[in-house]
Amino acid sequence: MIDKGQMDALFSSARKIAEMAYAPYSKFRVGAALLCEDGSVVTGVNVENRSFGLTVCAERNAIFTAVGKGYLRFKALAISTPDSVEPVGPCGACRQVISEFMPPDTPIRFAGSGESQVNTTAGEVLPFDSLHELRK
Ligand code: THU
Repeated sequence: MIDKGQMDALFSSARKIAEMAYAPYSKFRVGAALLCEDGSVVTGVNVENRSFGLTVCAERNAIFTAVGKGYLRFKALAISTPDSVEPVGPCGACRQVISEFMPPDTPIRFAGSGESQVNTTAGEVLPFDSLHELRK
């Protein structure tokens, strides 16, 4: 488990990397930061395309980058959406990908530019997931 200080630091990484988002169409930047088992942090941003359906979310870019670096287990995920005041959670597709690599008790934080933040878990964002059920 990770403490609040570690999650605060992870969220700072997500907030910082959100500046690198390529989001000229939606103007909605997203940054994601993954805390890997060995303590390293892997980040990702949303990357849009003029063929809109090709857009890939920050969360999936972070996870796929991490897998390409050899990481398969993660301690936490933080998501920053600085262009919304309120927290915006991961989309359904990302929830499915999150569940592939994170056990249900893995902490997830998401927050916008305002004060409020959501502190939840992989299992809460995708309940009744087949992979989680099979692992029981
Ligand atoms: N987006 C993410 O990167 N993550 C999410 O969980 C929600 C949506 C991106 C996709 C698109 O580039 C922009 O935010 C607006 O939907």
